Amino acid sequence: MAVLVPLVCVCLLSFAKGQNLELSSDEFPEDFLFGTATSAYQTEGAWNVNGKGENIWDYLTHNYPDRIADGSNADISCDTYHHVEDDVAILRDLGVDYYRFSISWSRLLPNGFSHEINDDAVRYYNFLIDALLNNGITPMVTLYHWDLPQILQKLGGWSNVNIVDYFTDYANVAFENFGDRVRYWITFNEPDLFCEAYGALEFAPIEVKADGIGDYLCSHHVLLAHASAYHLYNESFKTTQRGSLGIALSSRWYLPNTTSVEDIEAANRFLQFKVGRFAHPIYIGDYPEIVKNLVAIRSQEEGFPYSRLPEFTPTEIDYIRGSSDFFGLNFYTAELAANGPQNVPTAPSYNRDHNVVIEPENPWQATPISWLKVTPWGFQEVLIWLKNEYSNPLIFVTENGVPDAENYNDEERIYYLRTHLSALLSAIAEGVNVKMYTFWSLFDNFEWDLGYTVKFGLYHVNMSDPSRTREPKASAQIYKQIINNRRLIINDISVDNGGPESILCNICLIVGGLLIVFRNYLN
Ligand SMILES: *[C@@H]1O[C@H](CO)[C@@H](O)[C@H](O)[C@H]1NC(C)=O
Ligand SMILES: *[C@@H]1O[C@H](CO)[C@@H](O)[C@H](O)[C@H]1NC(C)=O
Ligand SMILES: *[C@@H]1O[C@H](CO)[C@@H](O)[C@H](O)[C@H]1NC(C)=O
Repeated sequence: MAVLVPLVCVCLLSFAKGQNLELSSDEFPEDFLFGTATSAYQTEGAWNVNGKGENIWDYLTHNYPDRIADGSNADISCDTYHHVEDDVAILRDLGVDYYRFSISWSRLLPNGFSHEINDDAVRYYNFLIDALLNNGITPMVTLYHWDLPQILQKLGGWSNVNIVDYFTDYANVAFENFGDRVRYWITFNEPDLFCEAYGALEFAPIEVKADGIGDYLCSHHVLLAHASAYHLYNESFKTTQRGSLGIALSSRWYLPNTTSVEDIEAANRFLQFKVGRFAHPIYIGDYPEIVKNLVAIRSQEEGFPYSRLPEFTPTEIDYIRGSSDFFGLNFYTAELAANGPQNVPTAPSYNRDHNVVIEPENPWQATPISWLKVTPWGFQEVLIWLKNEYSNPLIFVTENGVPDAENYNDEERIYYLRTHLSALLSAIAEGVNVKMYTFWSLFDNFEWDLGYTVKFGLYHVNMSDPSRTREPKASAQIYKQIINNRRLIINDISVDNGGPESILCNICLIVGGLLIVFRNYLN
C-alpha cells in the first residue's frame, strides 16, 4: 500500500506533465516585462460625468443599440473611473510590471479641440498614474483606442486631413500633463479595424460607409497623425520625459487555405493589406507595392481618374519612416486565407481590392468567438514574420487573450495563456526581439459590437452589482505565478494550474510522504 500511493503520484505527475510537453522550459529574459490592459471606452464608465464629452461609441450605442449583440452600452461598464484604488490594488496583487490603459479623448478635451481642457480628466488620469507608480507599476498609455469625440466625427473624423492637427494637439495636451510620468506611449490601437468602419465594417463611426474610399483616407491620416505625434514627442518631450512611443497593430497569421499558388499569394497579400499598409510606411517607407498596385488597377477599372489609395509625397514618406520606437503587436488568432473570385468590379470595395476570402471552417480549437481559434503556433509565425519583414524591430506584445465560457475556473484561458507564452519563448529563441507581453484583458468588459456577451477578463466583473464587484478567475492566479517564476515549467512540472489533477497530485504527494514517514517509523 505504501508503495502504491507514490506510484499513483508518479503516474498523475507524468499525466500533468504529458499534457504540457509542448511548453517551452526557457526562462523569460531578465529585462522581459509582463502587463495587462484595458481601454477607456470599454471599462471607464462615467460616460457623461464631470464634463466628459460624447464620443463615437457613446453615439453608436445610444442611437443604434441594435448594432450591439445585447443592445448594451458602456455608460457604466466596469466603472473604473470610480475604482482607481481597488483596481491598482488588484494590479499590484497580480504582480504586473506595467498597466496598459487608454485616455478618453472626449474626457480630456470635451469639445475635441485643445482650447478647453477638462480639469476633472487631468485630475482623474493623474490620480490613476500616481497610484500605479506608488505601487511600482509602470503606466503604458494609449492615446486613441477607438473613441473619437463625436464633434470631430461630424467634421469627417479620420477621413478629414485636419484630424492630423487635431490629434497632434490632443497628444500635446497628454504629453504636457502626464508625460513626466508615462514611460510608454501608444498612439493608435488597431487602426486597420477602426478604419474599416469608414468602409464596410459595422462599427463606429456608423454613418460613413464609403467602402474602398473612407477606409483608405482614414489609414492615410492615421499614419500622418501617428508620425506627427511621434515627431512632436521626439523633438519636444523625449529628452526631458525619456519615454518611448509606438503604434499597436493587429496581426493575425494567415495560412493558405490550400497549397495552390493563388492561395499562398492570397495569404501573403492579406498580411500586406492588413499589417503592411501600416507597418511598411513606418518601418520601410510608403505603402507596400502590392497594395498600391492593386488599388490603382481596380480604381482605373472602375473609371476613377486616380487611385482610391491616397499617395504620400516624398517628404511625407520620409516623415513617417522611422516614426516608432517599438512595434506594438496585438495577436489573437490564425485564419485560413483563400484567393477570392475574379469578378468584374462594379463599385469601389476594400474587400475586392485585396480579393482575399477567409475560409470559416478550420480544425483548430474553438472559443466563444467564431473567428478566434486557439493557434499559438500562429503567434510564433507572426513574430518571426515581423522580424524578417521589418529588420528585427523591437516588439512589444500589446494584446493577446481569449474569451471564456463564463466560468471562474477558466481552464481555456490558462491553456491559451501558457501556450502563447510558450510560443513567444520559442520566438525569442529564434532571435525575435520581443520584450513585453500584455494580456488582454484585466477585466470582463464591454466588447464593442459583442457588448457584454463575451468575457475576456482575468477578473470577472459583476455587471448587475452596483458596486461592480471584481473576482479573480483561476487564470489570474496562474498569470501571477508565471510573472513571479518567470518561466512556464518549474522543476519539470508545469506551473500549478489549480485544476483538479494538480490538487489531486498535491494531496497524494502529501499522503504518500506521510506513509513513507509512517513506514520508516514502524521499521
Ligand atoms: C529624434 O530626435 C533626434 C534628436 O533631435 C534626432 O536626431 C532623430 O533623428 C529624431 N528621430 C526621428 C525618427 O526623427
Ligand atoms: C478552402 O478549400 C476547400 C477545399 O480544401 C474548399 O472547399 C473551400 O471552398 C475553400 N475556401 C475558400 C474560401 O475558398
Ligand atoms: C451579482 O450581483 C448581484 C446583485 O448584487 C447578485 O444578486 C448576484 O448574485 C451577483 N452575481 C454573481 C455571479 O456574483
